[in-house]
Amino acid sequence: RKPVTINTLQSLYRKNEPITMITAHDFPSAHVADHAGMDMVLVGDSLAMVALGMEDTSEVLLDEMLLHCKSVARATKGAFTIGDLPMGSYEISPEQALASAIRVIKEGRMKSVKLEGGKEMAPTIAKITRAGIPVLAHIGLTPQRQNALGGFRVQGKSTASAVKLLDDALAIQEAGAYAVVVEAVPAEVAAAVTKALRIPTIGIGAGNGCSGQVLVQVDMLGHFPPGRFLPKFVKQYGNVWEESMRAIQDYKTEVKSRAYPAPEHTYPMSMSKEQFSDF
Ligand code: KIV
Ligand code: NA
Repeated sequence: RKPVTINTLQSLYRKNEPITMITAHDFPSAHVADHAGMDMVLVGDSLAMVALGMEDTSEVLLDEMLLHCKSVARATKGAFTIGDLPMGSYEISPEQALASAIRVIKEGRMKSVKLEGGKEMAPTIAKITRAGIPVLAHIGLTPQRQNALGGFRVQGKSTASAVKLLDDALAIQEAGAYAVVVEAVPAEVAAAVTKALRIPTIGIGAGNGCSGQVLVQVDMLGHFPPGRFLPKFVKQYGNVWEESMRAIQDYKTEVKSRAYPAPEHTYPMSMSKEQFSDF
């Protein structure tokens, strides 16, 4: 397929065709997402939790993100790629943010960057955009700010909070972001924000009135043991944990019983019986 560019995304938006986005954190997860025809593949800092086993996203370093970006870039031939700027790599100044964004492009081989925050990040978004690096913004529930938000909480529920969300979205658009992720916001509010903008909104827990949707791949694939907490917005489309358990347990049973490896999994010799007895 033809590689998705920023123009492809704009054309999908103009046609009112929903934009599809999913996270990936390594070569195999990016490979399958790209082959499945996703428009966008995000190396989210959620990889801190889902790929590195960290408590939250605040722990992952830019250098660690870059290794994952590189492996995703190698597998992604069609989808438009985005690398998340992790906490600590962009908040100090627009200059710091641009330096980090350049690393995500040059070293991580991504096509664009994502950062969290609203109006206060407008000068930063403008700085990166003016350097020729497309910026995807992220508002609503911003996980890097969980300590300030009092946890993973739905945003934009009250009038004041909804007004702030719209204000942030307009400032981000003005600053030059090509799209904005809207996370954990009531569907009506996200739809109203989408209507007010002329750039696409990519929703996650924000209803079907957004211009596109994003999910964390391991969540939607069911890559975790049953009983693990999942946010309300996650729909589990697969059961990778169960399938992996079945396969690994079957392997274990067959090794213990010597059913595996069978003759078809072994190599023939070129020696004759006599040569074999000599050796
Ligand atoms: O880190 C991440 O995976 C994200 C998406 C959920 C938007 O930021
Ligand atoms: Na993220």
